[in-house]
Amino acid sequence: ERPAAGHATAVAHPNIALIKYWGKRDDHLILPASDSLSMTLDVFSTTSHRPAGTRGRGGPGDPQRHPGGRRAVPAGGRLVRERARRAERAVVDTRNTVPTGAGLASSASGFAALAVAATAAYGLRLDATELSRLARRGSGSASRSIFGGFALWHAGRGTGADADLSSYAEPLPVGDLDAALVIAIVDAGPKAVSSRVGMRRTVETSPLYGPWVESSRADLTEMRAALLRGDLEAVGEIAERNALGMHATMLAARPAVRYMAPATLTVLDSILRLRQDGVAAYATMDAGPNVKVLCAGADADRVARTLRSGASRTYIARLGPGACLRAEDGR
Ligand code: PMV
Repeated sequence: ERPAAGHATAVAHPNIALIKYWGKRDDHLILPASDSLSMTLDVFSTTSHRPAGTRGRGGPGDPQRHPGGRRAVPAGGRLVRERARRAERAVVDTRNTVPTGAGLASSASGFAALAVAATAAYGLRLDATELSRLARRGSGSASRSIFGGFALWHAGRGTGADADLSSYAEPLPVGDLDAALVIAIVDAGPKAVSSRVGMRRTVETSPLYGPWVESSRADLTEMRAALLRGDLEAVGEIAERNALGMHATMLAARPAVRYMAPATLTVLDSILRLRQDGVAAYATMDAGPNVKVLCAGADADRVARTLRSGASRTYIARLGPGACLRAEDGR
């Protein structure tokens, strides 16, 4: 008999895409239609902890809620167990530090932390590419939170097992860039349409979807060059048009998928005024009404102060680290 799975604790941070992932070409393997590019933040970490000696509880779709925001989920589920050739289920506690009701997706940090903690608990030693592919199967954007700084998630080639191998994120070299992201919370409520449902409807019904995927390819090429030059204004302009384009494809879906709220537009107006005043600030939005604003670190306080008129809360984030095991569990 094999020894029981050990315990492991991992920490990961959320990432925000500057070139968006929206739409899958394979729903089961979570293979995206196009490459995406993100920055990992230094706020709202998730800690995934696999306590020793727990097993057999918390089947799929049966998350056990604990007080204080803790949640136990199956430890990486079937994928990790298959790789480890182990039958027993472990329970992993996941703790998010996203302020309650902040309305920020935590699936990226959650599945990245889970991939690192669960594989370590089962004694698997995966490299960062393999961890990224594994995290991808939990939530596509989680593939990017394995890495700190800027990361590029390759859509991969083809279909089936080969495609699975070729779709992972990797860290991206960038020039000298002092980037901050101001998060403007306008509505902390739960989203009306999940990203899974919203993506599928957009892919299947939006006449603008194909053209957006095409333009996203060009955006990515320009974005990589702008990052290498350390050209924050170009990075911001490309990120903003890519995000607004993504929201346009959603609005053209039938029925429309709309995540923007009136307060979202108020914040977008404030960003335009900031730019008229000479502050380089650019918006990006995901599957919700909150706005994330890319700006120089030196301008972050001013941007946050300005946006407070339309937003209920603001947070300032900078570049954060990749997912890692906590030292006390050292391998
Ligand atoms: O990884 P998911 O299924 O939560 O999808 C994330 C999609 C967006 O956040 C809207 C864009 C992105 O690239 O992160």
